[in-house]
Amino acid sequence: MRPALLDLIGGLTDDDLPAYVYDLPALRQHVHAIRAALPERVELLYAAKANSDPRIVRALTPYVDGFEVASGGELGHVRGLAPEAPIAFGGPGKTPAELARALEAGAERLHIESEHELRLLITLLGDRNTDVLLRVNLPVDLGQVALAMGGHPSPFGMDPTQLDRCLELIATAPGIRLRGLHLHLASGLQDQAQLTLIDEMLTWAKDWAQERAVDLAEMNVGGGMGVDYAHPHTVFDWSAFGAGLHSLLARHPHVILRIEPGRSVTAYCGWYVTQVLDIKSSQGEAFAVLRGGTHHLRTPAAKQHDQPFEVLPDDAWPQLWDRPEAHDEPVTLVGQLCTPKDVLARRVMVKRLRVGDRVAFAMAGAYAWNISHHAFLMHPHPTFHHLDDAEVPEVPVTGVPCAPRMP
Ligand SMILES: Cc1ncc(COP(=O)(O)O)c(C=O)c1O
Repeated sequence: MRPALLDLIGGLTDDDLPAYVYDLPALRQHVHAIRAALPERVELLYAAKANSDPRIVRALTPYVDGFEVASGGELGHVRGLAPEAPIAFGGPGKTPAELARALEAGAERLHIESEHELRLLITLLGDRNTDVLLRVNLPVDLGQVALAMGGHPSPFGMDPTQLDRCLELIATAPGIRLRGLHLHLASGLQDQAQLTLIDEMLTWAKDWAQERAVDLAEMNVGGGMGVDYAHPHTVFDWSAFGAGLHSLLARHPHVILRIEPGRSVTAYCGWYVTQVLDIKSSQGEAFAVLRGGTHHLRTPAAKQHDQPFEVLPDDAWPQLWDRPEAHDEPVTLVGQLCTPKDVLARRVMVKRLRVGDRVAFAMAGAYAWNISHHAFLMHPHPTFHHLDDAEVPEVPVTGVPCAPRMP
């Protein structure tokens, strides 16, 4: 953990814990590098569902071409924070009120998930115009992926055979302009696997469009860039991905490609910092009970992994009795909830862990606090802190405009 973060955490009192700490300079540097790695004709949207913390959204705004939102709530939130940023509104099960709100707010793209949703949009449109992408679920073999949203029967998007009906409907609605297709099939793919899948998507879409003489100006190929919680230092290879996209796009000279990653953008900038309340041995196994738990950081329970962590030793101890500790042994780190599922990391070797020590869980910047069941057991919420020296690190950007280019 870098010194500036340690200083910030050192300034937190025990009553401030658990705490979420977001490293905004690191986030800016990371997204700047992502942006720099992407070739021309690739637009970067941030999937706000990963973490819509207001300061994170604001920090990302200068570096992205827009935001992908998946509810009326996210739409209003992001519009309020970044009024100029283009917005793509996706997600299954949009209500009539949400669609109407997206039209009123002038969302730049609507990702249409079904024929029914398209019909709903047409009835709400009035004399307005809107640009849409049709979301398709291609029956491709995804292999082993962290999370499959398509490639098999799924509620997301529509079967390719249903697209023709949508084309007929769009032809009857002059206010609706079909800009292209949207495909988000899986999360957790590393660069080469992503490129193979995108190649397959683009090839399929080109044939599909040619057969129908449809102009596909845009292809949104979703997010899902891999984040490896077991190897925190192995980060998605954005340079290799960008180079691969460059070659792919040479075969599709007129298409604008859009990606909408979430997890791989913000996972690394967040830390969940807490403290050891108790350490016990149960039938030969060591358990450390921490303030907070999976009701604040549900990621390890949701993804069934060990959340990586660092121990921040705290030597202050009143010495009223022997300080419970574990050393050179595997320890299971659990929270305060009355459920055996409240596990943040299981049987992880620790050099030394004592009651009172602080524990900083890394990679807690995406799908962490915002996917957690905060109300369970009515423990206090964590406090939130942002490291922000507002210094934007110099990362060379080679001729890639950072200003929004979507409309
Ligand atoms: C349509 C869509 N786009 C983008 C994302 C972001 O995916 P990730 O956070 O894995 O990059 C998701 C995640 O569920 C999604 O459903």
